[in-house]
Amino acid sequence: MEQIVILDFGSQYTQVIARRIRECKVYCAIVPCQTPAAEIARLRPKGLILSGGPASVYAPRAPLPDAGIFTLGAPVLGICYGLQLLAQFLEGKVEPGTKREYGKGQLTVKDPACPLFKGVPETSQVWNSHGDQLTRLPKGFKAVAVTENSRYAAVEHRGRKMYGLQFHPEVVHTPSGREILANFVHGICGCGGEWTMRHFIDQAVDDIRSQVGPEKVILGLSGGVDSSVAAALLHKALGDQLTCIFVNNGLLRAREAETVQEVFGRHFKIHLVYEDASRKFLQRLKGVTDPERKRKIIGTTFIEVFQDATHEVGQPQFLAQGTLYPDIIESIPIAGNPAAKIKSHHNVGGLPKKMKLKLVEPLKCLFKDEVRQLGLELGLPKEMVYRQPFPGPGLAVRILGEVTASRLEILRNADWVVIEEMKKSGWYYKIWQSFAVLLPVRSVGVMGDERTYDYTIALRVVDSQDGMTADWVKLPYELLETMSNRIINEVKGVNRVCLDISSKPPATIEWE
Ligand code: XMP
Repeated sequence: MEQIVILDFGSQYTQVIARRIRECKVYCAIVPCQTPAAEIARLRPKGLILSGGPASVYAPRAPLPDAGIFTLGAPVLGICYGLQLLAQFLEGKVEPGTKREYGKGQLTVKDPACPLFKGVPETSQVWNSHGDQLTRLPKGFKAVAVTENSRYAAVEHRGRKMYGLQFHPEVVHTPSGREILANFVHGICGCGGEWTMRHFIDQAVDDIRSQVGPEKVILGLSGGVDSSVAAALLHKALGDQLTCIFVNNGLLRAREAETVQEVFGRHFKIHLVYEDASRKFLQRLKGVTDPERKRKIIGTTFIEVFQDATHEVGQPQFLAQGTLYPDIIESIPIAGNPAAKIKSHHNVGGLPKKMKLKLVEPLKCLFKDEVRQLGLELGLPKEMVYRQPFPGPGLAVRILGEVTASRLEILRNADWVVIEEMKKSGWYYKIWQSFAVLLPVRSVGVMGDERTYDYTIALRVVDSQDGMTADWVKLPYELLETMSNRIINEVKGVNRVCLDISSKPPATIEWE
């Protein structure tokens, strides 16, 4: 199979480069930067990409590639640190820049005949992130593009098919970046572009089998997109070696437990352990109103129930998780970053260590939209693959104050109306999240001739790219009216519906 090999020098964008290559429908492998040239040669790469990295090429312990890679004959593209390595190995010169160049810059193409810039406008925006700079070109190279701060923003040795970019073509802030990478992959390396998600599945199945061998694997199924796709993929690779554990914590939405049993148990015929622990969760949540305590109780109870359920599986050696690439990046602890906390809870971080299991994470190089594509390819229903995000602690974070069975019932019914109406109107799949929140206040109303004293539901409908910031969605009045009427008429215990019109920040998406 035609492939591009990316040598990873530790950039946080290495996987983004891989993603861009996949978008060109070309297979790519990421290998550690010091992989011996002979081993890389065995992969018969059509081209090599040297990623960026946090080090400085002249630092004492800078990661360096095997010099043999430059004589393999495959075209080479060095990105940022990768460019500086090219210079270092081919006798150019790299020096610390006078100031760190970070952020947007304007690229001007000096040689439009350079195959890297085919179809790229003469000037375009690029994104930089580097301290060191190339100050002397290696022999035989010439500059083919510049930015305000760099005479050597892009360099070329056309004869040897070697290229270097000072900026990052892989990030979205370099709008022509996709074009540039596509030019490298197709135009310069001559890759066709027949690789598809089907091929990804074949490769992933092989990888999973060789990692797991004959051992048993367990996977916590939440019904969310990531764990569902991971389950379907692992099942394809491992069949009966996989057991999925689905814990009903009593905080699920209407019909959720049934759907999971239907899809995974009956349709895919996956070994499914269904643990109905609703009573245990509810008992422990009795009288608890503090949001953080609620989360803690739910987290520890989940681990306990999950651990008990694994006893039914025999002796599993592996725990599978639907970790995605952005999860890995976000879980790198950054002081004060609340995302890290959310993810650690969500992915029940302590679980593998506590249970002495090895991890299988077959989705960890994929982005969310790729996971969705994969899910469809594996035959998961569209409703599951395009499901809106739902927090691990479930409806508990959408009931303010104490979580009780009767409040759960009210919220579940109101939530069902919201889901139904959002889907019916076509809005459900256009936005990030839409849900109901149960407020712990009751107010007076009239129904028929009777006075009521019932709860208030808040509607929360937001749009977002990644959940970090969000805007409230301006739904049509008619749709809001239908949802409000239906909730008040159909959900016993509610006599008022409000609309949340706050953005994040300063508000959060969930109310808690
Ligand atoms: P907030 O409320 O912090 O939510 O603005 C941001 C996004 O994260 C989801 N969320 C969670 N997801 N476990 C999860 O898996 C959690 O504990 C959790 N808390 C919030 C929330 O639904 C939104 O999409």
